[in-house]
Amino acid sequence: MMTEDSRPEILYERAEHAARIVRAHYGEEVRTAVVLGSGLGAFADQLEEQVALDYADIPGFARSTVEGHAGRLVIGKTNGVSIAAMQGRFHYYEGYSFEEVTFPMRVLGALGVRSVLLTNAAGGINLAFDQGALMIISDHLNLMGANPLRGANDDRFGARFPDMSEVYARDFQEIAVEEGKAIGLELRRGVYAALSGPSYETPAEIRMLRTLGADAVGMSTAPEAIVARHMGLKVLGISCITNMAAGVLDQPINHAEVMETGARVREKFTELLRRVIPRLSA
Ligand code: HPA
Repeated sequence: MMTEDSRPEILYERAEHAARIVRAHYGEEVRTAVVLGSGLGAFADQLEEQVALDYADIPGFARSTVEGHAGRLVIGKTNGVSIAAMQGRFHYYEGYSFEEVTFPMRVLGALGVRSVLLTNAAGGINLAFDQGALMIISDHLNLMGANPLRGANDDRFGARFPDMSEVYARDFQEIAVEEGKAIGLELRRGVYAALSGPSYETPAEIRMLRTLGADAVGMSTAPEAIVARHMGLKVLGISCITNMAAGVLDQPINHAEVMETGARVREKFTELLRRVIPRLSA
């Protein structure tokens, strides 16, 4: 075992180091990963022949602090395909740097993952959406205030100025639509606006976001998607509209409601994940 002191300093090597530790627990090739947002962690529990690593046991991973996030990397099989599932993610609003928020993506990339499904909870801005709807992310607005690729570029990851014209792969979106239809789920599709949080938005901010072309708003996903694309991974994003955004309904937003809706939709969402994930290969 490497000691705390012998950990590499350069991000690329830290990611490789962490990936070696993960690989020591799970030898088989893992090409697909999923990040499970608030209230969706249960999906990982159903993986077969699984191994689970606490984030605390993966060097370089921070620790998740928000309710509803377990903080484990679970690797196992669904439909005979090995996948890595992150039960919980790191949010910028928790105080982590963008490098910490996106380090798991770097590790997944180093593991050999080529496709990633990012899930999240989001507020519905599009007035045609209902609470509990699922939305395929067609594109995002990164309004978090910075880009996770800011700073020196390591060409081993990817280019200095990576193209972002198709962050969310079109063929993956079609797979999600198809599989949704197959189980009687009408999926929405739209633009996800990422804000830093942690306060929910004001009604004026939601009107602004609607004018800017956003359909949903949340506090995650965009940094991970940017970093995944930097490495050439293919990305699919699905939001659970846990609440209508501020000012849409005449009522305040609270985290308990967000968690409740997540729980109500969990089974359908899990079923969708089970069908979609084995089809996501780059
Ligand atoms: N705003 C931002 N993030 C969210 C929301 C919201 O209304 N709901 C769930 N995550």
